Amino acid sequence: MPTISRRAFLGASLTGLAAGRLFAQDKPAEATPKSLDDAPFQPSTLFLTWQRDPTTTMTIQWVGAIGETADTKVSYAAGKAGAWQSQAITVKPYPLTDLKIFRAELTGLLPGADYQFRIGKMSPTYRFRTMPAKATDTIHFISGGDCGVNGHTVSNNIQAARQDPMFAVIGGDLAYDNGKSVEIHLAFLRNYSKHMVGRNGRLIPMVAGIGNHEVDGGYKKPRAKAPFFYALFDGLYQETGYATLDFGDYLSLVLLDTEHTSPIAGAQADWLERTLKDRVDHPNVFVVNHVPAYPSFRRALGVAGKEGTGEANRKHWVPLFQKYRVPVVLEHHDHTFKRTKPLLDGFSDKNGVLYLGDGSWGRLRTPYQPENLAYLAASSRDYHLSLHRIQGKERFHLALDENGRVMDVCRSGQRTTGVIPGSDD
Ligand SMILES: [Fe+2]
Ligand SMILES: [Fe+2]
Repeated sequence: MPTISRRAFLGASLTGLAAGRLFAQDKPAEATPKSLDDAPFQPSTLFLTWQRDPTTTMTIQWVGAIGETADTKVSYAAGKAGAWQSQAITVKPYPLTDLKIFRAELTGLLPGADYQFRIGKMSPTYRFRTMPAKATDTIHFISGGDCGVNGHTVSNNIQAARQDPMFAVIGGDLAYDNGKSVEIHLAFLRNYSKHMVGRNGRLIPMVAGIGNHEVDGGYKKPRAKAPFFYALFDGLYQETGYATLDFGDYLSLVLLDTEHTSPIAGAQADWLERTLKDRVDHPNVFVVNHVPAYPSFRRALGVAGKEGTGEANRKHWVPLFQKYRVPVVLEHHDHTFKRTKPLLDGFSDKNGVLYLGDGSWGRLRTPYQPENLAYLAASSRDYHLSLHRIQGKERFHLALDENGRVMDVCRSGQRTTGVIPGSDD
């Protein structure tokens, strides 16, 4: 597959990308505004996530108080004409408060279908869409990390929603609650719930990985020290801080725990090897980790006997990424925009692994530049998100800043033929 320049790519391919609302100028949709005006029960933290195959399931969650609405049963229907069904919810404690988490997992859904749902009889009618059974059409999603609750986070939420992504992956440091702050955690959920609404009021599901700011103490702690994260996401992370979310046969997200509540070596590395080996022939395996293997701000090499950033990833995980054809690793934690060269053992190689990051949804630092750090292909100090588009056997990765400007474009092919950066760098 030949290398393409950024200019050539932009000229030749943006028609197709724009079809996915890359440059949509209209305002982000609000969830069924007419109903919102009328509905007395509107949980401000309502959001969607997944615990298993996104082609046939959806998990609806919100944080609230017992008794604020009499009927919390979720009813749902396919399309506008489908028969309404109901699903009982589970209620579990929300940490450090008297509040509760209300959760309904809908299963046995039709793939690639629009659904509407309500909570009791007093909520608005919300919408979601299941993922398609096959990747016959373009699959597009947003990734980023290190959000927080400031204005930049909200700007990026709005830009993300304008792309109408099928879902969003947040690779750790979601709210910066540090396992302790109820207010910050709830503010993060309220922002996501309000702004992460796609076309026609469709709610955009969130897939989350763990970062140090989910955890009281940051690293090497038990699950109990990340109470908000596990309260919301223990359906996916039932016993460990790592999990795989398989989308039919066309996409796997391998979500890792960079030593926050699970050691990098040992059981997690063994699991990672089995997981990647099982998926070696899958077309799109994206790894998501919080602390980067190839940092853009922190130092990769340790000093004075102290371990460098990402050292354990590079020792225990990177050889597995390389061995089992992982094309793309999404990294975070350093609060920059970065794209590495395709790397094998830290050196540029056309058959290498592409590392994209480094988590600046709502946090910012000044990174190393490619001229000072050989493994980097591009970097900048910008709030940003990544938009990934899987089109047949090709993947496009666009970095968008908080104003929606395209900062960087690259594409990745299958590793057998190499990963091909799409810029002139
Ligand atoms: Fe962070
Ligand atoms: Fe972090």
